[in-house]
Amino acid sequence: MDGNGRWASQRGLPRIEGHRRGVKRVKEALESARRHGVEVLTLFAFSVENWNRPKEEVDALMGMLEAYLKDQKKELIRHQIRFRVVGRYEELSASVQAELKETVAQTSGFTKHTLALALNYGSRTEVVDAVKRIAEKISRGELSTASIDWPLVQDHLYTQGLPDPDLVIRTSGESRISNFLLLQSAYAEMYFSEVLWPDFSDKHFDTAIRAFQSRERRYGKTTEQLSFSALEGSPLT
Ligand code: IPE
Ligand code: MG
Repeated sequence: MDGNGRWASQRGLPRIEGHRRGVKRVKEALESARRHGVEVLTLFAFSVENWNRPKEEVDALMGMLEAYLKDQKKELIRHQIRFRVVGRYEELSASVQAELKETVAQTSGFTKHTLALALNYGSRTEVVDAVKRIAEKISRGELSTASIDWPLVQDHLYTQGLPDPDLVIRTSGESRISNFLLLQSAYAEMYFSEVLWPDFSDKHFDTAIRAFQSRERRYGKTTEQLSFSALEGSPLT
């Protein structure tokens, strides 16, 4: 979700205004995803690198996050959407953590749709944390080095239990991934949109999904090897 700051400065508004408008789009995006039958929507809300922003912007973002959770909890429950956090959430403030835990707990029984918020997230941090946890298990004798394989590594990522993304959308005209779900996106389709996040509407979401549907995903195989049935029918993440 990129481009909040530029959206605001183009209008002579403070950056915070762009973030405020961005939060509105989060609610709409969740609705668009639900309508399209997307099983898991992961939103990159705050990266490990975002702490380097001015303190007042960081504080405002955290305040908005808390308000969002307080405001949206009922909606998530009403629509039976499971809530997950991906990232080092232990480093967020106690009050944000309390909201996150409560929202996770109250929605943990839902299975059809998941909203995952990437908070204090970075792929490299995720790998470091996964390696540490695996190493600790080995040193305690709970795991053997020989048993390390990709499913085991996956189980130690913040995204444990979530499917890999099929489609990654980056807004605001940037053509980079910026440390987001790098391992999980190994076979994801990338979609780069020029639209700034506060302007990213349902219509833009539809266009991204349509672009995704027109792509052929070969996973290293040839076009001829792919059966028609393999190309359609599975839900999006
Ligand atoms: C939102 O957009 C992303 C967040 C970290 C919340 P930006 O704040 O990065 O907007 P730009 O890139 O300055 O336009
Ligand atoms: Mg940005």
